[in-house]
Amino acid sequence: MAPMPPKLPIAVLISGSGSNLQALIDAANDDAFGCSIVGVISDRREAFGLVRAQRVGIPTTVVAWSDFGDRESFTEATVDAARTFGAKALVLAGFMRILAASAIEAYPNAIINVHPALLPLFPGANAIEQALEAGVAETGVTVHFVDELVDHGPVIAQQSVPVVDGDTPDTVRSRIQGVEHLLLPRVVSAFGRGDITVDASGVVWHNDLEAVAP
Ligand code: GRF
Repeated sequence: MAPMPPKLPIAVLISGSGSNLQALIDAANDDAFGCSIVGVISDRREAFGLVRAQRVGIPTTVVAWSDFGDRESFTEATVDAARTFGAKALVLAGFMRILAASAIEAYPNAIINVHPALLPLFPGANAIEQALEAGVAETGVTVHFVDELVDHGPVIAQQSVPVVDGDTPDTVRSRIQGVEHLLLPRVVSAFGRGDITVDASGVVWHNDLEAVAP
């Protein structure tokens, strides 16, 4: 049997429940998954995602926003933590802080974010509430490379999710998270395998992403 290609070491950054982290952990059990999760970084000590990582033996660290006076030093500490884990890329999975541009310099085209809307629509916090307020018939999930702007940067994959009569933020969130939990691991794995690159015209897929049903 041919040896498996080396996996890309990634750090996953979280702030909360970590259900997307869990989806990555589960996906990484597959030998074909293109990345290995070498560490989890949280900006909040009480984030449940830390427990999810610890119970499968993934190293964790907290870089608490409250310990830093400004975005630059917070970012520097976060990048230091990721480098200490040996991470070659970062995945922001429900990470609710904005990193300074120095993170993009440290990890160019190697920071992936998942956002619960079809960017460029509804950037920022409360994307699901914004979509409901706007009365759209569909919203969705975007996985993208992070650039200097918030919820901005080359889109890697998007999947729409219907909004139906009677929906609440919770029902839409649950539908969106179902898609996130499929789409994010597929993108992260493909990135680890080298199937996604970025050039001047945007993201290039070297193998097609399998369709992700909502
Ligand atoms: C996700 O829906 C993500 O899109 C948003 O925050 C949520 C985090 O959920 N930015 P979890 O912590 O992965 O459960």
